[in-house]
Amino acid sequence: MAVYPTKRLRRLRYSPIVRDMICETIVTKKDFIYPLFVVPGKNIKKEVKSMPGNYHMSVDEIVRECKEIQSLGIPAIILFGIPEYKDEVGSGAYDPNGVIQQAIKAIKKEVKDLLVITDVCLCEYTSHGHCGVLKGEEVLNDETVELLVKEAVSHAEAGADIIAPSDMMDGRIGAIRKALDQKGFYKTPILSYAAKYASGYYGPFREAAESTPAFGDRKSHQMDPGNSNEAMREIEDDIEEGADIIMVKPAGPYLDIIYRAKQKFGLPTAAYQVSGEFAMIKAAGKNGCIDEERVMMESLTAIKRAGADMILTYFAKDAAKYLDKTRK
Ligand code: PBG
Ligand code: ZN
Repeated sequence: MAVYPTKRLRRLRYSPIVRDMICETIVTKKDFIYPLFVVPGKNIKKEVKSMPGNYHMSVDEIVRECKEIQSLGIPAIILFGIPEYKDEVGSGAYDPNGVIQQAIKAIKKEVKDLLVITDVCLCEYTSHGHCGVLKGEEVLNDETVELLVKEAVSHAEAGADIIAPSDMMDGRIGAIRKALDQKGFYKTPILSYAAKYASGYYGPFREAAESTPAFGDRKSHQMDPGNSNEAMREIEDDIEEGADIIMVKPAGPYLDIIYRAKQKFGLPTAAYQVSGEFAMIKAAGKNGCIDEERVMMESLTAIKRAGADMILTYFAKDAAKYLDKTRK
């Protein structure tokens, strides 16, 4: 084995052309899934304060936005709904005429070749902001799974291409897979939020989705940030129950989990660069502390380098525009 001075690792770094040729990780637009928030009404496009460039949009505006997303070369979106009404059991989530169901139908009808993924959880739809049915202050597991199944099926019936359960109840992937198959949706993949942490980085999203829990937290179902072995068990369970794609969330602070999951399971792996990760980069960029575009691309590259095949990111549009500008 050669050593210095024969071996010089800098040799491959002097020329930008060589640097480009040996680059191991290249983020492309095809990696992106863009999150969108749908609200009832018409002609509504209202910016989420802590998430510059992201909006609450009514169905008509969402369709317009989806056309733009598609024309930018972004292949997929994930939809979150803020319903007309909220109740104890999140009925708006599985209402065949709910806001998400309407949005799916409209997008599928008017925008060609855009992959529509839907987030399946109840916290946006419950009056108490918890991810499931409550008994006292406890989020009940099996009763919640029954409602998640209804929600997933209603998304598939409306035309969703991929179903993404984000609730972290036990057994929900198996139950949803079974119900989808029974209803004939055996071709609809499940993207499971398999390792989802109880994270402070969801702050801006909860403002956007109006889903802050009225009391308590989500620690009885989302994972402890200190745990990695447990993430592998969660992912393994979801795969056994029928998940087609697994997700780690958040992304940037959990690169070790992404890496480990990809190495261990080799399944298509998604990572969610969440609202707080986005908001921090935006805010620091705005304050002049960092170069926003550069850190945006670096954060996405790091997530991909760790092993993510696809990235859910609020930067999807900005990054797509940046790539158009900088890459031949
Ligand atoms: C719903 C859900 C959350 C996010 C995606 N789906 C929030 C939560 O668990 O409170 C977070 C996304 C983000 O912060 O960008 N369970
Ligand atoms: Zn939830």
